[in-house]
Amino acid sequence: MDTILVTGGCGFIGSNFIRHVLQEQLVAKLINVDLLTYAGNPANLADFEDDERYVFYRADIADEEAINEILSTHQVDVLLNFAAESHVDRSIVDPQAFVRTNLVGTSTLLNAARKQNVPRYIQISTDEVYGSLSFDDPAFTEQTALNPRNPYSAAKAGGDMLVLAHEHTFGINACVTRCSNNYGPYQFPEKLIPLMLLNAMDGKPLPVYGTGENIRDWIHVEDHCRGIAAVLQHGQTGRVYHFGGDCELQNIDVVRRIIEAAGASEEQITYVKDRPGHDMRYAMNFEETTKELGWTPRISFEEGLAATAQWYRDNQSWWKPIVSGDYLEWIEQWYGERKGAA
Ligand SMILES: NC(=O)c1ccc[n+]([C@@H]2O[C@H](COP(=O)([O-])OP(=O)(O)OC[C@H]3O[C@@H](n4cnc5c(N)ncnc54)[C@H](O)[C@@H]3O)[C@@H](O)[C@H]2O)c1
Repeated sequence: MDTILVTGGCGFIGSNFIRHVLQEQLVAKLINVDLLTYAGNPANLADFEDDERYVFYRADIADEEAINEILSTHQVDVLLNFAAESHVDRSIVDPQAFVRTNLVGTSTLLNAARKQNVPRYIQISTDEVYGSLSFDDPAFTEQTALNPRNPYSAAKAGGDMLVLAHEHTFGINACVTRCSNNYGPYQFPEKLIPLMLLNAMDGKPLPVYGTGENIRDWIHVEDHCRGIAAVLQHGQTGRVYHFGGDCELQNIDVVRRIIEAAGASEEQITYVKDRPGHDMRYAMNFEETTKELGWTPRISFEEGLAATAQWYRDNQSWWKPIVSGDYLEWIEQWYGERKGAA
């Protein structure tokens, strides 16, 4: 593999993926295109800043001119789109931002990739596009009809459909990966596991939506990144690949395990008004992916959660500026210096 372009590489999963492919020496060159929204933090990749294989651009995936310019500067072999607005709660407050990045941004990338003859495109997506399961429904398969029920998942579903439509209509080589809830290092502390971990460690309240019965499947981000790397190496055009952790848990169980891992108290749990339209259950059947790529998750939730709790304990210098909001100023300063030096 020569050159890959990753969008959203300064976010949680994108930065873990970049770390994985550079450490495993899977590519000769990696271009990271990220707008550096509140969720994008160059500190996630500080260890690769001087790596000659790594190139960074600050750009919006919905900005056709900027994307065309980057793609005409580099001979990109595979474009992987991780960039997204990714927090469901924010999509309820501001759906437009989600349509712009997750739908218009995906369309812009596809258009530019086609014009610039990028040979392959991989879309990183989510189990949420399938909507909600009841407690005894079978898990989602690749054939399950899309039925998104919040602005985040609706915009992601639209993006996925555009990718597969471009594959069908224009004959581009493209596929989609869908995964369940990720956790692990560098996850922005607005998401369930890091939010609860930090609050638990700090003796703060642990806000649980509704009754806490909603079920999610949990996968360690390293298992997800290993799966995406397998798709990068062996994935076929037109396919949808599923990744899951084989670990369905009610939110309240996740919070109880976090309390245990952090040595906190059950008394910190506070039940808060449920999220509007809150999906009850997601579950992934990934047998087809296992058959085709030989991929299975390796990290158990117990092991992964303990390691994640330790990571947040050891990396206060990463999350403290995020929690205080100071990181935003640091990012602009970092970017200004970088631009000045370029
Ligand atoms: N986090 C999960 O549990 C999960 C599960 C399955 C799939 N996914 C998908 O994986 C991808 C990455 O998720 P994440 O959790 O790392 O998200 P994240 O919010 O941590 O990171 C998103 C990144 O995209 C960048 N970005 C946002 N808008 C952009 C734009 N218009 N142009 C360029 N860059 C932009 C941000 O700056 C940030 O670096 C998303 O597509 C998401 O839908 C996430």
